[in-house]
Amino acid sequence: MFESKNKYFGRKKGKSFARLEQFQKYLVSPSKDFFKQIEKPRVLEIGIGDGEKISADAKLHSKINYIGCDIFADAFFVLSVTLRKIHLDLVVFHLNIQTSYLLFQLNILMYSVFFPDPWPKTKHKRRRTFNSELVQTLSSKLKKNGYIHFATDHGDYFLDALVLLQDQGYRMDNISPNSWKYNEFNALDTKFEKKALDKNHKLFYFSVLKNY
Ligand SMILES: C[S@@+](CC[C@H](N)C(=O)[O-])C[C@H]1O[C@@H](n2cnc3c(N)ncnc32)[C@H](O)[C@@H]1O
Repeated sequence: MFESKNKYFGRKKGKSFARLEQFQKYLVSPSKDFFKQIEKPRVLEIGIGDGEKISADAKLHSKINYIGCDIFADAFFVLSVTLRKIHLDLVVFHLNIQTSYLLFQLNILMYSVFFPDPWPKTKHKRRRTFNSELVQTLSSKLKKNGYIHFATDHGDYFLDALVLLQDQGYRMDNISPNSWKYNEFNALDTKFEKKALDKNHKLFYFSVLKNY
């Protein structure tokens, strides 16, 4: 599956698309039935990019079922080849989150959103993936005592995300400059984290708990 019918912003295919298209067969076609078969606990990463983090997590926590979604096709093909090489069973959807969440059942243990496209210009802010509509829908499928784990190198996105989650009643224990800064504990080792570090950007991280 290459394209979602829903409207979204940003690039869908990169330079390596033609070369990697042959790997399309390894992608999972999302459907409600398929999703039902994924056992709990389920963690969903939104915007997996090259998939470094989701692969590392899946290797480390074999009892958790990781699901990844992204709109960018090339990275998926690279990831599908890597996963086959290392025999890692991971579910990845090439679909935007706005469409994929319609397929999901309840009981997600955690959502991860790492370095979502910041759309820094005020006039483009409405394009941000992590907005109130999405948070509301994701929250309805997150289990009690489930988490949202968020990271960005954009201070304004960080604050907006915190406010959105506070409005939705998430607990924000221990969120402070010490907890949100880049350090050994917070480091995710993703491509965009590295890019941000190379540019000397300030990085922000947090996890919030839905205890209702
Ligand atoms: C800046 S990159 C970050 C990638 C990765 N998380 C990292 O830290 O390196 C943002 C990713 O989100 C994806 N993305 C953008 N809009 C999306 C949407 N609506 N649903 C799913 N993924 C999306 C992009 O294709 C891109 O791979």
